[in-house]
Amino acid sequence: MKATAKAPANIAFIKYWGKLDEKLRLPCNDSISMNLSHAFTITTVEFSDKYHKDEFIFMSNVILGRSEATTPESDSGQARMTKQDVKEEQRVIKQLDRIRKIADSKLFAKVVTKNSFPKGTGIASSASGFAALTLAAAAALNLKLSEKELSILARLGSGSACRSIPDGFVEWKSGNTSVESYAYSLFDENYWDLKDIIVLVSPEEKKTSSSKGHENVNSSLFFKTRLANLPDKIKRFKKALQEKNINIFGELLEGEAVELHTIMMTQSPPLFYWNSATMDIIKKVQDWREQGLSVYFTIDAGPNVHLICGKKEEKIVLVKLKESGHVDNLIINSPAKGAKIIDQHLF
Ligand code: PMV
Repeated sequence: MKATAKAPANIAFIKYWGKLDEKLRLPCNDSISMNLSHAFTITTVEFSDKYHKDEFIFMSNVILGRSEATTPESDSGQARMTKQDVKEEQRVIKQLDRIRKIADSKLFAKVVTKNSFPKGTGIASSASGFAALTLAAAAALNLKLSEKELSILARLGSGSACRSIPDGFVEWKSGNTSVESYAYSLFDENYWDLKDIIVLVSPEEKKTSSSKGHENVNSSLFFKTRLANLPDKIKRFKKALQEKNINIFGELLEGEAVELHTIMMTQSPPLFYWNSATMDIIKKVQDWREQGLSVYFTIDAGPNVHLICGKKEEKIVLVKLKESGHVDNLIINSPAKGAKIIDQHLF
């Protein structure tokens, strides 16, 4: 009754922002992402009658967007729990409850989890976190679920987690009901060797979680326009992906990131996730492109910038980053497989 899963974080090329159904986490629009090879979560779940409540150990802090680590050595987590931690724990328990219900089990669980990315980097890890938790818990209870069922379950924990279940380049169809809203692979991880160089510009935890941010999306005057234009944009984006046309792909990618943040900044209350380093990198990317370098940016709900380029351009982008002083905190990713069961347990 013990299983361990490894799940990647994913970077959204076409963003999910806004929910049709809050509880079911049904999104307002389809989205497209790529799984990341070097930003992932590993989670071990054990169900047993030796546990009298659900227990959590976060081996490195970033899991589920936490700011404080609870290490197995100190194991004094409860005392150090912030309000945010308690909320996140409740979300994890809810997810365990969903899986227990399917398995008709009343057993409590011990959950130990760690991230590949370093403490305090400010990368949202709810996608990799909930994908790993869902797969490990389902396997520990011996449930035989399809990829689609796992994606739906992961979505109920955290929307974008559904995209961390299938391999490689992934599309999440919004759907009108829970069973229709799941992600599937458009292309596997070997399809296109794109690089995603994440520039971690801020170690700070964001003040407003994306979960919260989604709630006020309709207050932006521009949201309706975004939704009206998205189907055509997605069509063009998929064509560029199909043709591996990095220039059209990159232009759409950047436009989409700026559009997402325009909505965020014009919501009420407004969300300003960028900081001055974010803006600095955006400008640098524009300069580098003028010099003939094919590199594009995208940004999720935070200040960190994802630089997307081909394998050929990776070295020179790294040189440019070094020259501009942004070299300390980089995570270099290739496309990756989705969530998988692994043999090495964390306890
Ligand atoms: O799954 P959530 O609630 O963390 O929302 C993710 C929102 C964005 O990262 C901004 C976009 C996306 O599609 O991942």
